[in-house]
Amino acid sequence: VTRIGVLTGGGDCPGLNAVIRAVVRKGVQSHGYEFTGFRDGWRGTLDGRTVKLDIPAVRGILPRGGTILGSSRTNPLKEPDGVRRIKETLAEHEVGPLIAIGGEDTLGVAARLHEEYGIPCVGVPKTIDNDLSATDYTFGFDTAVQIATEAIDRLHTTAESHMRVLVVEVMGRHAGWIALHSGLAGGANVILVPEQPFDVDQVCAWVTSRFEASYAPIVVTAEGAVPRDGEVVLKDSSRDSFGHVRLSGVGDWLAHEIERRTGHEARTTVLGHVQRGGTPSAFDRWLATRFGLHAVDAVREGDFGKMVALRGTDIVRVPLAEAVATLKTVDPARYAEAGVFFG
Ligand code: F6P
Repeated sequence: VTRIGVLTGGGDCPGLNAVIRAVVRKGVQSHGYEFTGFRDGWRGTLDGRTVKLDIPAVRGILPRGGTILGSSRTNPLKEPDGVRRIKETLAEHEVGPLIAIGGEDTLGVAARLHEEYGIPCVGVPKTIDNDLSATDYTFGFDTAVQIATEAIDRLHTTAESHMRVLVVEVMGRHAGWIALHSGLAGGANVILVPEQPFDVDQVCAWVTSRFEASYAPIVVTAEGAVPRDGEVVLKDSSRDSFGHVRLSGVGDWLAHEIERRTGHEARTTVLGHVQRGGTPSAFDRWLATRFGLHAVDAVREGDFGKMVALRGTDIVRVPLAEAVATLKTVDPARYAEAGVFFG
């Protein structure tokens, strides 16, 4: 009997459980495969910590956020004897192929384990950031955009009632997809992305023009957005009125600068991990499920060293090494489209 190992690595993401469920359901029902889940990403393959993965274990998990396998950012290639320990664990549990569900880092490890050490791996792409270039979409992104959009909708009413600037900081260190999509969907007046360094004076001019039209502005910024012209976003580690240390990012910095330069009151909301938590959207469940089904097909065909990917409405396979080579960032033309709504 073929026994397949499954693991989830990197930040959690809505839809991970949907992939696990689809993999197990298809593998068991269509091919009689058995499964071993490894706990906490690559960490479980190093330490030999497993989770039982059969049909009862995946019942009811489709709509659940997070991952029943746990996750970590452990890179086994940076651990002493990492590859030897993984091989020992796989042999001990009689696991043949591995299905690794993760982002750039997790899949980069899978690519190397396959290419350099002959461990048969199939990858499933995961990230709320949607910045993997080989796939049109990753699951988790749609849910994150939905959560950010709902937050922006709610913040509009506070902005209008108090005639304040509301800055919303969303996730995205290297790519501004969540900011761009939620900013457009939520009717933001300024959208800032890491790919296009911003001019604070220009942002203030947009804010001012919005007030001149008797409306209060919403500024959506990706956490990785940076000012140009040498302005530095200082991490302010001062203490708040409760004595807690405050570590602010670009959102807080922007609100401070907007207040200082325009005289308009500004507040910041940092959405943080709520964007990754809770139940996946219908689109993310659909995509995650299809990725899982097709990952089992790849194992069945012995097509290792590949990642499943969405192209249009088809699921295709691409070499893992190629899939993690470059990040998919927001190109200037896509960003420019949104500019008509600024100010
Ligand atoms: O890659 C997903 C992501 O949520 C990024 O958008 C964010 O910058 C990062 O992970 C946060 O990581 P952590 O959960 O380790 O703070």
